[in-house]
Amino acid sequence: MKNDINRQFRLKSRPVGRINDSDFELVETPIPVAQDGEAVVRNLYLSLDPTNRIWMSDIDQYMPPVEIGAVMRGGGIGRVVASRSPRYQVGDLVAGFVNWQDYTVARVDDAMPLRTLPKGLPIPLPTMMAACGTTGLTAYFGLLELGKPKAGDTVVVSAAAGAVGSVVGQIAKIKGCRTVGIAGGPEKCRLIKDEFGYDEAVDYKATDWRERLVQATPKGVDVNFENVGGEIMEAVMLRMNLYGRMPLCGMISGYNAAEPAKVDFTPILMRRIGIQGFIVLDFAAKFAEGSAQLARWVLEGKLKSRETIVEGLEKAPSAVNMLFDGSNVGKLIIKVADPAAI
Ligand SMILES: NC(=O)c1ccc[n+]([C@@H]2O[C@H](COP(=O)([O-])OP(=O)(O)OC[C@H]3O[C@@H](n4cnc5c(N)ncnc54)[C@H](OP(=O)(O)O)[C@@H]3O)[C@@H](O)[C@H]2O)c1
Repeated sequence: MKNDINRQFRLKSRPVGRINDSDFELVETPIPVAQDGEAVVRNLYLSLDPTNRIWMSDIDQYMPPVEIGAVMRGGGIGRVVASRSPRYQVGDLVAGFVNWQDYTVARVDDAMPLRTLPKGLPIPLPTMMAACGTTGLTAYFGLLELGKPKAGDTVVVSAAAGAVGSVVGQIAKIKGCRTVGIAGGPEKCRLIKDEFGYDEAVDYKATDWRERLVQATPKGVDVNFENVGGEIMEAVMLRMNLYGRMPLCGMISGYNAAEPAKVDFTPILMRRIGIQGFIVLDFAAKFAEGSAQLARWVLEGKLKSRETIVEGLEKAPSAVNMLFDGSNVGKLIIKVADPAAI
């Protein structure tokens, strides 16, 4: 890559089904120059998330959709390389919406300003985006505030080998629960037991997965941390105990679909299931508390973070599809630039 340009992915068309490279235009622009009150950030890591697919669409959603022609929205970490802002010093590591580009302009009056990461924390930057970042916070608040797990509860987690799911299972174990993870394929099922400590793993790609789910939950399900939706969610709801709790974190099985899946509400009534949808940003006021706890668990060796890192900003559009074909384990991250060189 040339050193004097800022590559930006701009949304060209709203994807139909899977994301295509042709849905984006890769534009080369000059590196921004900091004006009064601004800082220029060299992006280092970009977080790829299922919600990227939602933002590319114009369905009813929790933030405005990315406009056609705009730089694609995305979270990540970068380093301040120029500053005319009292809030940011050159060399600071910052996190937040850095977007799909090489450089970001940080302004204090941004609706969600980039936050400065603590200095000297002995945690690798990818982990700061995974178990200790927004991903970990999603697992932490969704499970603890909405799932309200008690020791001995059976907690089921879908997309259990993924970024959020791998952390949910480990926090549930820390809280003394019995954990059952649902994941695609024997390799991921082995991994979630060996690496993330799940007590049971159900391979939803096996033909007998519904029976396996029943066998894995002999005492029913007290908490269903829902990441997938569709028929997996329906099958788990049929295993739920009276007054079970279901934090509804995501429904990835439907994000590429033209029409939302129809869900049978009957078990919700019969089992009096408490379902609460949430967006991690709902807990923003408590992020410092959650991040500190997650970092403590990581440093104490109680919480493992796994990342799948893809090199090169240019891979971003095609790499998001890895989330939908399941070729990621843990947090999917694009390495935009080498932190050691910036
Ligand atoms: N509410 C919030 O604030 C919030 C924040 C972050 C994430 N989320 C949601 O949490 C969920 C997980 O996100 P993540 O970032 O942790 O991604 P992830 O789990 O790391 O990646 C997605 C995983 O979903 C599984 N998957 C994809 N399509 C599927 C399908 N049709 N049926 C079953 N499984 C499928 C794949 O695993 P397999 O190989 O096992 O199929 C894939 O690895 C998503 O629904 C996301 O939207 C919500």
